[in-house]
Amino acid sequence: MIEIKNIKKSFEERPILKDISTLFEKGKTNLIIGQSGSGKTVLLKSIVRLIEVDEGEILFDGRDIRRMNFRDLKQLRQEMGMVFQGGALFDSLSVAENVRFPMDMFTNMTNGEKNKHVDFCLDRVNIKGAHHLFPSEISGGMRKRVSIARAIALNPKYLFCDEPNSGLDPVTSILIDNLIKEITIELRKPRDHCPDFLF
Ligand SMILES: Nc1ncnc2c1ncn2[C@@H]1O[C@H](COP(=O)(O)OP(=O)(O)OP(=O)(O)O)[C@@H](O)[C@H]1O
Ligand SMILES: [Mg+2]
Repeated sequence: MIEIKNIKKSFEERPILKDISTLFEKGKTNLIIGQSGSGKTVLLKSIVRLIEVDEGEILFDGRDIRRMNFRDLKQLRQEMGMVFQGGALFDSLSVAENVRFPMDMFTNMTNGEKNKHVDFCLDRVNIKGAHHLFPSEISGGMRKRVSIARAIALNPKYLFCDEPNSGLDPVTSILIDNLIKEITIELRKPRDHCPDFLF
């Protein structure tokens, strides 16, 4: 459960988040809706502490992310999957390397285990035969799906998606919505395919 209490954030005296409080309950998919420029991305980045808010509390199961030391923050970040608004794939890494990146950063998996899990994650988002391609060589919808594959690579407890279907055609957009819905349900339960080191 994530609870945010009275958070405020201004940029150069310009208030963007003005006393926001809300609750994101376990097992639920929550949507944040607002006009362009209203502060959705700032709110999301504040929740995961990529932006430091000026005031308020951001509680992950009762623990305030704002007060966590580096070690605890790193541990919590491993439980988060992020799909950024622009996809935020590494341009110089291939599709497979992008998905593998969190495993390289945070796990002691062997090369064989990583390769197998990269295959699983890409397969889950219906990307086939594109492992060796670079982000500039795939379509916008594919980039979003690779971004989702990377976000689920560590079997996250929290999945944050910032406009995962913006800029896509209506059909692809619905496919991505459905994919996120399915993945959210899958992430709630233990899975056979998931290697032990991810728990
Ligand atoms: N690092 C920053 N420094 C200064 N202003 C910022 C910064 N980040 C965001 N802003 C401002 O905060 C406001 C909210 O931006 P944000 O990106 O959160 O909007 P949004 O609701 O996500 O919009 P969109 O739907 O277009 O993605 C904007 O006016 C933006 O210019
Ligand atoms: Mg945004």
